[in-house]
Amino acid sequence: AHDFLIAPSILSADFARLGEEVDNVLAAGADVVHFDVMDNHYVPNLTIGPMVCKALRKHGVTAPIDVHLMVKPVDRMISDFIEAGASYITFHPEASEHVDRSLQLIRDGGCKAGLVFNPATPLSYLDYVMDKVDMVLLMSVNPGFGGQSFIPGTLNKLREARARIDASHYDIRLEIDGGVKVDNIAEIAAAGADTFVAGSAIFSAHQASDPHGYDTVLKQL
Ligand code: DX5
Ligand code: ZN
Repeated sequence: AHDFLIAPSILSADFARLGEEVDNVLAAGADVVHFDVMDNHYVPNLTIGPMVCKALRKHGVTAPIDVHLMVKPVDRMISDFIEAGASYITFHPEASEHVDRSLQLIRDGGCKAGLVFNPATPLSYLDYVMDKVDMVLLMSVNPGFGGQSFIPGTLNKLREARARIDASHYDIRLEIDGGVKVDNIAEIAAAGADTFVAGSAIFSAHQASDPHGYDTVLKQL
């Protein structure tokens, strides 16, 4: 079993002050920076790429950066994010023509590798690559946007993923992404997750009226 890690999704941060936002959530106790990469092709939205990852490293961020690739194809972005200072790189298996090769590319670059499962994507993609993943990421919303509601059926899928990971005896993190809030995180943890992405729950807590909003929410999570 792993320690619990909280991974704020910077998708909900103020991009005009990104370095400061990341510094603030890390100072407030966050463990990992979750970095959502969307290409307006695999998902209907467009966000940030390797240059922004590199800029965060240059800014002085030393915490792990968890790059969630929602792009197709994936291999070129894998190479660019290795170069840009990523720690974890996860991708959606449907978006790669050669899943085994993409996983290998990530590990060869010295990063931790992971597969991401959309709500309707079967966990059977793991059958022949369990020894090549460091992270399994279950989407509890359809990817593309922050601020959506947690899809309840993901709890059973989490239990199934937890059972597969435990049976494999490999050292694999189980991450959950989408609609994680203060009022459902305990239930999500009980279903087997050990790494929790939260975007809107964390970043919307910080407002002019509540400059310590991050601290308050991160303490409750
Ligand atoms: C959705 C992204 C998530 C998103 C989570 O495609 O992968 O990381 O930012 O945001 P919340 O926590 O607001 O659901
Ligand atoms: Zn994400």
